[in-house]
Amino acid sequence: MTDLTRTDAVRRHDPAVRGFASDNYAGVHPEVLAAITLANGGHQISYGEDDYTAHLQDVFRRHFGDKAEAYPVFNGTGANVVALQALLPRWGAVVCADTAHIHVDEGGAPEKMGGIKLHTVSTPDGKLTPELLDRQAFGFGDEHRAQPLAVSITQSTELGTLYTIDEIRAVVDHAHQLGMLVHMDGSRLANAAASLGQPMRAFTTDLGVDVLSFGGTKNGLLLGEVVVVLNPERVRNIKYLRKTSMQLASKMRFVSVQFEALLAGDLYLRNAGHANAMASRLEAAVRKIDGVEVVRPVQANAVFAILPREVSERLQKRYRFYFWNEHTGEVRWMCSYDTTEADIDAFAAAIAEEMGRA
Ligand SMILES: Cc1ncc(COP(=O)(O)O)c(C=O)c1O
Repeated sequence: MTDLTRTDAVRRHDPAVRGFASDNYAGVHPEVLAAITLANGGHQISYGEDDYTAHLQDVFRRHFGDKAEAYPVFNGTGANVVALQALLPRWGAVVCADTAHIHVDEGGAPEKMGGIKLHTVSTPDGKLTPELLDRQAFGFGDEHRAQPLAVSITQSTELGTLYTIDEIRAVVDHAHQLGMLVHMDGSRLANAAASLGQPMRAFTTDLGVDVLSFGGTKNGLLLGEVVVVLNPERVRNIKYLRKTSMQLASKMRFVSVQFEALLAGDLYLRNAGHANAMASRLEAAVRKIDGVEVVRPVQANAVFAILPREVSERLQKRYRFYFWNEHTGEVRWMCSYDTTEADIDAFAAAIAEEMGRA
């Protein structure tokens, strides 16, 4: 009898070591691993014709309405590039905040893989408004300007802030009035749902968002994101774009079953709500430390702070985290579904110690 737990692999990391660099430093949630095991064994048709991906359509429709179509992909950059291509003709451009992941953290993938021009707007808090959108939504019909035919907003944002429902409605309505389509980067949509205390459709489908990149990896999955078409009349051909963008998984059942584990019950909210709560705990702790300034509203699972650079550099020898802005010395601390209260307390104590305030 084969021992199903045996492996020649050797554990090469210390699971007690925690960091605050990214919410994808965490491992896989045990319920998600259990789901992968459940889907293992036997043969299933490849490339998304499997029973798990078929069922996933129901799961997504329950959350996002009867018209929603779910297309699992490997990663968030891929989800964004596939979704944006579906919104645009070859001469199209996307308006986004200059802090948007598609602009600063995707290595130029929208431009390189999608041939998409990004028109960026500077924002105080990572959020577009109708007025900010207008700064780039011009030149319609001018062949010299890449046509701003779509807008991309991120919920929760790259700066750890949240759009209210009214704020999203205002951007979506304005974009639609201008004839633009709306993409939402929902890499942390569950964090937004947990923080707003609203069902996810309340700030996506119900407001007229056309296509969504729905995140899983940052919320306890091994890997996987889903392009969710919310407006199938206007957003077509995702399946061809997914394949030609190298985002079509052959063993898709293992991506799909993870999303079932996340969304069939409340795991998505438990994980995201916990990560958010840990960020609030960290914020409260560091606000008590003289010389540490929390510089952005903490509305999801990120804390942004400014402290003396040499202190950050010493701290980085003890905990992983990134400088968000090398120029100002602003740092970003991310919390995950598996960050514990003890992790936060130990990290806050380390900050206090390095600040000489312990
Ligand atoms: C706002 C946002 N969108 C998308 C992604 C997904 O990126 P990846 O391609 O690393 O999965 C991330 C990850 O950091 C993100 O923060």
